[in-house]
Amino acid sequence: MSSMIENQRDDGFLNIADHDSYTDGVPHASFARLREQDPVHYTTPTDGMKSFWSVTRHADILEANGKPEIFSSAQGIRIEDQSREEYLARRTFQETDPPEHRITRKLVNPAFSRPAIIQYEAMIRQLAAEIVDAAIKRGEFDAVDAIAKQLPMLMLGRILGLPDADLEWLVEKGDALIGNTDPDFTDHVVDKMNSDAYRFMPFRSPAGVDLYDYAETVFAGRKSIDPQGVLHRVISADNGLALEDFRNFFCLLVAAGNDTTRYSISMALYLLTKHPELLPQLQSGSVDDTAADEIIRLASPTMHFRRTATRDTVLGGTKIAEGDKVVLWFVSGNRDAAVFDDPHRPRLDRHPNPNVAFGQGGPHFCLGMWLARLEVKVVLQELATKLAGIEALDAPRWTRSNFICGVKSLPVGVRVR
Ligand code: HEM
Repeated sequence: MSSMIENQRDDGFLNIADHDSYTDGVPHASFARLREQDPVHYTTPTDGMKSFWSVTRHADILEANGKPEIFSSAQGIRIEDQSREEYLARRTFQETDPPEHRITRKLVNPAFSRPAIIQYEAMIRQLAAEIVDAAIKRGEFDAVDAIAKQLPMLMLGRILGLPDADLEWLVEKGDALIGNTDPDFTDHVVDKMNSDAYRFMPFRSPAGVDLYDYAETVFAGRKSIDPQGVLHRVISADNGLALEDFRNFFCLLVAAGNDTTRYSISMALYLLTKHPELLPQLQSGSVDDTAADEIIRLASPTMHFRRTATRDTVLGGTKIAEGDKVVLWFVSGNRDAAVFDDPHRPRLDRHPNPNVAFGQGGPHFCLGMWLARLEVKVVLQELATKLAGIEALDAPRWTRSNFICGVKSLPVGVRVR
């Protein structure tokens, strides 16, 4: 296996559901073995969890993702099990199937469409320039805190229409939700303590209580928000969301809209420290249109989403029974050598790049795709313009999660052009 793989401790036989399997980076050797030997892999039930299938090949992921009538999102989208009551209390439109899914998706699509996001380009560029300037002035800094975390947070605030003063707090809460298995992000590590008290909250997290309260304040008009922002539009639309749906939608955006783009940018910074040849390539301007997608392919921060089989079926030659949980490992499909030549190597000019990091090929493909791509592209351009070199001062630290992977801290030193 190539030395390009971040996780050098992975021996190819890790427990795929165990959050600790990911603390040295994604176990790519294990996923490669599964793609080769057991592409639709069965994990037996354990005390706390029903059995599930892991789909690891690109072609099978695309097939399942394109058949929501067979591989449904409407019984939960994470490996972990949920009771029906928990599902109903916590669900968003992401946990519904067409045609129901289309109703809310249509409501929020325009604000995140490609033409809408292009309108933000100048703002993204200005914010990215300020963030990169402030960081590199310090010479040595944590690349995730100083750069990767900043732009997604500020842009989500602008698009939703929330006050800047609230953003740090909101991101901290969003981190606690999505990082509910990582002690760096929450005191309430969900797989290590009893979380029954929060079972009706998103991610079974106490941070869900705070975010619900905040969302209610917004919904009731007790928070001053930008009338042009997405939240105002969703609340005031004729067919707008009810409070319960709004609260969950709000939590989804705060969680999904931050960490994913952050970990894509932190992957870019990590790769720049590992592969000095990438910076001159970025500086040449020749990979402006392809580099962001390649970084996002390699980052694949949302490693999986789950479906549930609505009937007996066959996927990748394997029989799957009605009711079985089927986990689509986008992170694995994105390193499938059947599709990506030299899959672990960053090739910033890779084109075409049919990666599935955003859940492409299915009705739930990422709402924030155009925003995330543009943010990554602009940060790469800013770094290329301003940096003469970047070195890691210590090893990266990776998230503890079977769901969201990424470099959560990376001390670096930079030389400025
Ligand atoms: C690099 C950054 C990102 C990655 C890799 C990513 C990944 C994904 C993936 C894989 C899905 C598909 C879910 C499924 O199949 O069930 C998804 C859906 C979604 N994403 Fe993202 N995402 C990113 C950024 C964002 C941002 C910036 C936002 C919000 C501003 C966002 C909001 C959403 C929402 C709301 C959905 C659900 C869409 C639906 O069910 O129709 N994401 N994302």
